[in-house]
Amino acid sequence: MRKKTLKDFDFKGKRALVRVDFNVPLENGNITDDTRIQAALPTIQYLINEGARVILMSHLGRPKGDNKDQFRMDPVARRLADLLQKEVKKVDDCIGPEVQKAVADLQDGDVLVLENTRFYEEEEKNDPAFAKELASIADIFVSDAFGTVHRAHASTVGVTEYLPSVAGFLLQKELEALGGVMENPEHPFVAIMGGAKVSDKIGVIRNLMNKIDYLLVGGGIANTFIRAKGYETGKSLVEEDKLDLAIELLKEAEEKGVELVLPVDVVVADEFSNDANSKVVPIDQIPEDWESLDSGGPKTIEKYSEIIKNAKTVIWNGPLGVFEFDNFARGTNAIAEAMAESNAITIIGGGDSAAAIKKAGLEDKMTHISTGGGASLMFFEGLPLPGVEALDDQE
Ligand code: 3PG
Repeated sequence: MRKKTLKDFDFKGKRALVRVDFNVPLENGNITDDTRIQAALPTIQYLINEGARVILMSHLGRPKGDNKDQFRMDPVARRLADLLQKEVKKVDDCIGPEVQKAVADLQDGDVLVLENTRFYEEEEKNDPAFAKELASIADIFVSDAFGTVHRAHASTVGVTEYLPSVAGFLLQKELEALGGVMENPEHPFVAIMGGAKVSDKIGVIRNLMNKIDYLLVGGGIANTFIRAKGYETGKSLVEEDKLDLAIELLKEAEEKGVELVLPVDVVVADEFSNDANSKVVPIDQIPEDWESLDSGGPKTIEKYSEIIKNAKTVIWNGPLGVFEFDNFARGTNAIAEAMAESNAITIIGGGDSAAAIKKAGLEDKMTHISTGGGASLMFFEGLPLPGVEALDDQE
């Protein structure tokens, strides 16, 4: 790790301002998945044990500078208290006199959660005065929000101008896991790219093609490739303006010796609904009034599973269909199962793929499930992550 870490600093009696990614899904004020809170526990527990005064800050949702009740950090602070089995204090702001007073009252080992940093529009603008105020309550900054290090915001980057800044355990673990496969992958190296749009993944696909042996394509992305190859795709989601790009990517794959694999059969539906009529068709027989909602035809599943079985490294980002509809989750579930059964190093790039793995109960079978969707994509694209770059370098 070329950045300073928790072990490089003595935290006893120090005020540690920790950027965590507590941007968790909520339904009617209840947390539906606390993975990100659990993932931050090693750092928080370590700081408590070391006698730091722990001040946690995060964004939650996209309130765009407004104080919106549904984005308050209270449920998060309550869940954290349950997980730590310890009192967790909470303030209703992230800067200002109330925060200063709460910080002054902290004892060694206490934990305080600040209010959502995105209640200030200065946060996303990385406003220096706002960052300075955030930093003013602490002696050191710890970045443990891997899910947000691709954002150059005041709480991820701005504060590092004013405080010694080190990486927490989660950030370190993520960078080591993702960095390991990107720097020194064992071959055959397989990438599986799904999701709705090829336009979201162009940079990632291009960068990965310098390293991988196979690119398995699924979901909406696959529809665009299928159409680009000249097949009719009915009412399927296709990016019409990206057909030339898809042809270019097919050509680039060939030039680089990467086998770009497309579905051979798909599950089509007569409407966009879980209860739609559905059938499996070969990709050259998608009916005019139907749409492909799942790349998981049996022949495709067999082909993709075989490649995954023989792989030494597999990374996966994006579902192979509309997996939120149980009837169209076959391809996505099959990938999850094939990865679980394989002996390869298996890395899941956050977001929907991580949700699919969890829904299938296969978390324990994966080498690493990233807590960052956008951040892991940016990492796989080979781009610098601003929230990592800004931390102090090891001497
Ligand atoms: C995420 O959920 O990917 C991170 O918390 C970043 O959130 P954002 O996309 O709203 O910046």
